[in-house]
Amino acid sequence: MTWERIQGATSSGLDTHHAAWFRKGWEEASKMTRSLMNTHWTLDPFARTCPWADIRNDINPTMPTDHHLDALEFLQLLKKTHGPSMARIIILDPPFSERQAERYMDEMGHPNLYASPGYMGRLGVLVKDLLAGGGVVLKLGFNSNAPTQGLELVKGWTVAFGGGRNDVQMSIWRWPNMTLDEWPTLEDKPKKAYVPAPILPWGMPGYNPLLP
Ligand SMILES: C[S@@+](CC[C@H](N)C(=O)[O-])C[C@H]1O[C@@H](n2cnc3c(N)ncnc32)[C@H](O)[C@@H]1O
Repeated sequence: MTWERIQGATSSGLDTHHAAWFRKGWEEASKMTRSLMNTHWTLDPFARTCPWADIRNDINPTMPTDHHLDALEFLQLLKKTHGPSMARIIILDPPFSERQAERYMDEMGHPNLYASPGYMGRLGVLVKDLLAGGGVVLKLGFNSNAPTQGLELVKGWTVAFGGGRNDVQMSIWRWPNMTLDEWPTLEDKPKKAYVPAPILPWGMPGYNPLLP
């Protein structure tokens, strides 16, 4: 496990994926799960305008995502429709500071979910259910706690912004267990296009650094 301190931009907007440091995390997570690329999905329950994951959700109905559900409902829905162990990467980038929550609050009135009793715990359990063995969580927050028990920390970054701003902790957590049921699915069940398809004005979704 390595942990690095890196520099973030001094001013960053609400769309985290424009930041080079977040892209670095996504690229690492993609490389780590390369062997699952053709069979397992990437999910983003708090996607906002980030186009990277195959299946995206944001509770704000004005965002260009596949679903507009609460993140817990979104993950429960996917467990029902696709079954457990269907994901290779799950991005966790909820509003995680009072300041951020206030800025999203202007849009929709969402609380800081890390401070909502029980919420992140329930989210973590669903995340573990959905991850395939070898799949990872890319987590952003103010702490480096495990999203849930049983995941192992594989890499982390402290992103420093300078001035009076708090650092952000970005970490990658792997679900090391593979159930017997999962072995045959790796080769035999290529994933199909996800419906409903999103309409993104700026082009195709699914930025995948593993593809040319
Ligand atoms: C930090 S932003 C995500 C930014 C995104 N990763 C990007 O790169 O642009 C968090 C998003 O979570 C959404 N959100 C807040 N509460 C939510 C909830 N309970 N369920 C789903 N989405 C929620 C907000 O609307 C906001 O767009």
